[in-house]
Amino acid sequence: MAVGIFDSGLGGLTVLNAAQQRLPDVDFLYFGDNAHAPYGVRDAEDVFQLTRRAVETMWAHGCDLVILACNTASAAALRRMQEGGLPPGKRVLGVFVPLIEALTERQWGDNSPPREVDVKHVALFATPATVASRAFQRELAFRAIGVDVEAQSCGGVVDAIEDGDEILAEALVRSHVDALKRKMPEPQAAILGCTHYPLMEDCFQKALGPDVKVFSQGELVAESLAHYLDRHPDMMGRGAGGFLTSGDATRVSDRATQFLRREITFAAA
Ligand code: SIN
Repeated sequence: MAVGIFDSGLGGLTVLNAAQQRLPDVDFLYFGDNAHAPYGVRDAEDVFQLTRRAVETMWAHGCDLVILACNTASAAALRRMQEGGLPPGKRVLGVFVPLIEALTERQWGDNSPPREVDVKHVALFATPATVASRAFQRELAFRAIGVDVEAQSCGGVVDAIEDGDEILAEALVRSHVDALKRKMPEPQAAILGCTHYPLMEDCFQKALGPDVKVFSQGELVAESLAHYLDRHPDMMGRGAGGFLTSGDATRVSDRATQFLRREITFAAA
């Protein structure tokens, strides 16, 4: 079975890329729910239902372990799915914990009580749905105390990236960073809390300035997955990797090939 990587669309390919580099011997099955993307403007119940359906599709394709690369899906569905009980032998992981462990300088899987950390002012850039969920702040509170988080909902950025409109995406990033700085003039760290934003990392860094440490999830999620698979080798993917989409496979393949600058072929889920 392959390890599943789920995203609402193409943004999760940034996570897949990092995971393939970190774990070259693992097979990955990627599923983009392009027919329903973007998730970031949907309400929480809608995102939960779509995510659950997508994860069930991946389980049916033999992925016992599914990573919710989509932050919006992680925010709306991860805890709810885990708390609702997963079928025997099935696991779902999200993307906030690896980011928060890096931000708070915790070892992987360190579940000790929350404590004071060096970073006190954190900017979170995410979709409207992720910001509204406050899932990042909830997960952070399990691990750190005394951290002020200012969240900026970055409307329009995902669409501009998916449409390949770099000029619009850059203009939107600059205006969202300006808006954040009006609320928090001196963030020490910035979280890029959406799978698409790593593609704009340089733009975020330039707008934020060199003193702000930018945390973007690809490598952090890949590293965390490597630790998880060390501890759970039974979840290691074997065979049946590839790319699935709920959207138009030809169109999605073209976009993905442009996005990652390598040939990618999606099949209909
Ligand atoms: C979206 O589907 O709106 C963006 C994906 C994400 O939140 O990471």
